[in-house]
Amino acid sequence: MNPHRTTFTTTRTGLDRGLYPMRLWQKAKRLGTWDPAAIDFTADAGDWKGLTEPEQDLLLRLTAQFQGGEESVTYDLLPLLQVMAEAGRIEEEMFLTSYLWEEAKHVEGFGRFLRDVAGAEGDLDHYFTDAYRHIFFEALPSAMDRLRSDASPTVLAEAAVTYQMIVEGVLAETGYEAYYTVLEANDILPGMQTFVRNVQRDEARHVGYGVFLLARLVAEHGDPVWDAIDARMNQLLPFALQHIEQTLAPYEDEVPFGITAEDFIEVGIKQFENRFSRIERARSQSLDDVYYGHQASASEPEAGTPDRTSPAQPPPGLRT
Ligand SMILES: [Fe+2]
Ligand SMILES: [Fe+2]
Repeated sequence: MNPHRTTFTTTRTGLDRGLYPMRLWQKAKRLGTWDPAAIDFTADAGDWKGLTEPEQDLLLRLTAQFQGGEESVTYDLLPLLQVMAEAGRIEEEMFLTSYLWEEAKHVEGFGRFLRDVAGAEGDLDHYFTDAYRHIFFEALPSAMDRLRSDASPTVLAEAAVTYQMIVEGVLAETGYEAYYTVLEANDILPGMQTFVRNVQRDEARHVGYGVFLLARLVAEHGDPVWDAIDARMNQLLPFALQHIEQTLAPYEDEVPFGITAEDFIEVGIKQFENRFSRIERARSQSLDDVYYGHQASASEPEAGTPDRTSPAQPPPGLRT
């Protein structure tokens, strides 16, 4: 808390309703109020029994990873709210309250699938890959925890790259692609299809906020922040891509549902590249361009459906 408070934003100037985070907040109130407890998983439980053991194993692996990831981001978002509160950025903090509530709903929803559909009991931690452990047990919590003592622009940028660009932008995006490929193509688990679509729509706002935050830091502080973003991305992207390969490796040449790591890596890289170039554009933009322009909002599709039309190549220096 700021012990030297002398005024409030809302009484001095009023809320800045045109600010990009306020636009996200309006969307969050409209679109983010769905209830994971209300999704009907009855048909899913029947479908689950008809799947082969390896098919169940792959879906259980993917869901266990999402479940852990959602719990992690729920814990790890808090220092970012604190930073915005202390900076008096009320509009950003307002949006972040919806963000945190949505992560909590995702924890609940994936938990319902594990319990009510897959009948999973006991420890699922053996489904975590080494790269996953590096990201969720070390890189993400340490990057976010650092904000408690240092909210400088470069530290904030490194946290946002880790949280919104790598964890939500690359890992989660590839996970949705896996669910879509498997569930829609095989016309199974309708409750889970609904749930994943809702989660992805929420996550599009989260990543949109991350792109905004990074763009505003770049527009305001220039090259030192840009260099920190570039370095952090190069440091973590290989782990994200390794995680995808390590997730499918146990199935060797017989990956259930005929999926391949390359399919998902393409999606992850393409999304990453789009956002990376949007943030880079902020190097030549004014702060007002970032605050009120459409630069960041382009990363937040209303429907939340990934564009799967064209393959992507890793940006230079980011090949693994
Ligand atoms: Fe989430
Ligand atoms: Fe999220």
